[in-house]
Amino acid sequence: MPINKPADAKYKLNTLIKNRWSPRAFENKSVDNEILNSLFEAARWAASCNNSQPWRFIVAKKENPKEYAKALSCFNENNQKWASTAPVIGFVGAYQLMLGDKKSRTYFYDTGMAMSQFTLQALEHNLYIHQAGGVLLDEIKIQYEVPDDVDIICGFALGYQGEADILPEPYNERELQERVRNPIEDFVFTNSFNKDK
Ligand SMILES: Cc1cc2nc3c(=O)[nH]c(=O)nc-3n(C[C@H](O)[C@H](O)[C@H](O)COP(=O)(O)O)c2cc1C
Repeated sequence: MPINKPADAKYKLNTLIKNRWSPRAFENKSVDNEILNSLFEAARWAASCNNSQPWRFIVAKKENPKEYAKALSCFNENNQKWASTAPVIGFVGAYQLMLGDKKSRTYFYDTGMAMSQFTLQALEHNLYIHQAGGVLLDEIKIQYEVPDDVDIICGFALGYQGEADILPEPYNERELQERVRNPIEDFVFTNSFNKDK
């Protein structure tokens, strides 16, 4: 049975936001290109500073074993243990420049906007995404000939949810762990970061 872990939210939430979480167990079922492209379409329409659209994606599907093995080898050892269950894996990066040659101050932020849309669009197709900062950046740079003005940020695994018991320890148990968050008061400020003022 797929695991549901809706946000234990104090206030009303959009259904996709409420239901999104990051599973590590994926079903062995391929994702249609039409559906995959709808996720990239969602990323495409993200807001960005000056409409600079700095997001860059690398993607590999399990049905292309050579491409998939190359991408998987760029995840760190621990992340490979669960990412290898996903039918689609890849990396997201950000182009540093905007307006020709100006270094953007917001290229990571803009790329996060795109990734967030990508992730939520996935849920509309019953697909889930698990991102992974634990990737081999130097290896990705070499393997994919990443230009110097693009920073690879993160890996991701995506697919339909699988059963927790396909995962090795400790990931099978982590799959069932409760999702927790800091309270709103911890990150929203008014007059000053100093709450006494
Ligand atoms: C930028 C980023 C890097 C992450 N890196 C890893 C990682 O290397 N390995 C991992 O297992 N999970 C990783 N995660 C997943 C987070 O641990 C997860 O999103 C967080 O615990 C909140 O859980 P939720 O997404 O289910 O709400 C990463 C998530 C993000 C956004």
